[in-house]
Amino acid sequence: MEAAAAREKIQALTEKIEELNHLYYQNNESRVSDQEFDLLLKRLQQLEEAFPELADPNSPTQRVGGTITKNFAQATHQYRMLSLGNTYSPGELQDFDGRVAKGLGHRDYAYCCELKFDGVAISLIYEQGRLVRAVTRGDGTQGDVVTENVKTIRSIPLYIEHPDLPERFEVRGEVFLPRKEFDRINAERQKAGEPLLANPRNAASGTLKMQDSSIVAKRRLDCYCYQLLGENLGLDTHEEATQRLEAWGFHVSPTYKKCADIQEVFAYIEEWEEKRHSLPVDTDGVVLKLNDFTQREELGFTAKIPRWAIAYKYAAESMPTRLLGIQYQVGRTGLLRRWHNSKL
Ligand code: IVH
Repeated sequence: MEAAAAREKIQALTEKIEELNHLYYQNNESRVSDQEFDLLLKRLQQLEEAFPELADPNSPTQRVGGTITKNFAQATHQYRMLSLGNTYSPGELQDFDGRVAKGLGHRDYAYCCELKFDGVAISLIYEQGRLVRAVTRGDGTQGDVVTENVKTIRSIPLYIEHPDLPERFEVRGEVFLPRKEFDRINAERQKAGEPLLANPRNAASGTLKMQDSSIVAKRRLDCYCYQLLGENLGLDTHEEATQRLEAWGFHVSPTYKKCADIQEVFAYIEEWEEKRHSLPVDTDGVVLKLNDFTQREELGFTAKIPRWAIAYKYAAESMPTRLLGIQYQVGRTGLLRRWHNSKL
């Protein structure tokens, strides 16, 4: 094949794969089987190997990994990655709302409610529509650069084409291992006599820090995006920002809701207390955020947390357990190690 024909074929395959990805992750629609999808990827990979000068660093073949990173570089966050204040008490939530109302001089305001996903926070940097860097939260100021591993997450766009896309922007979200994937991996590991993964959260965090991105690719991580940052984005509210993220092809959990007042927030919390267990990701509470960005600026931050958002945590559930007399330890990679001999 000649270079010109290869270029065209690469472009066509890339577009096709990206479209299938988009349909799968944004619309929950599978137009081809997993095998057919893998075949398309394989064809693209072969072409890129034959014509390395045509390979794009953001090609969908990056989704299958293959890069080894011995030591992750560090990057400084342009905007600090803060944590949220949290509470388990409805009374304290009411107090939070009182402080918001007072801080805003009792003007009108609204909240956006989302579930609090139990995964690993990630910052995605886009320049000219391309994902150029993915950084973990780290200490909030500096984190690990895990771009190659993040490229294997199929719901994260590697390249966005959209009118009026800002030159540079940042998207934040939560990387997670869907419960179904977690169960599948553990069933395989059990069969192979390998140590089991402790829980989806630790597994997600361990997986993001793996050295071999082709192993990361096999774990099928996912990511819910919940924040858009940048200069002059022309956005006034969190609701608009969320809709824009959806329009640009990011995976946003459809569970978000704008609430006109704290009573509606309480209704949201109640609505999701049980329903959240049917979601693909573990959640441990609800995050409420002031919707209006100007009002957020007025309230500002304390040393560590925003005054315009808070997490309400559901009471931890006690799970029935059987004491087996075994000691477990969770390793850095999210692996559950069994230290004493036992019969599982
Ligand atoms: S917003 C300034 N929204 O919770 C607030 N965070 O304790 C920015 N998290 O580091 C965070 N689900 O890893 C936000 N829907 C959600 C979230 C969420 C989970 C995590 C996130 C963050 C931590 C804050």
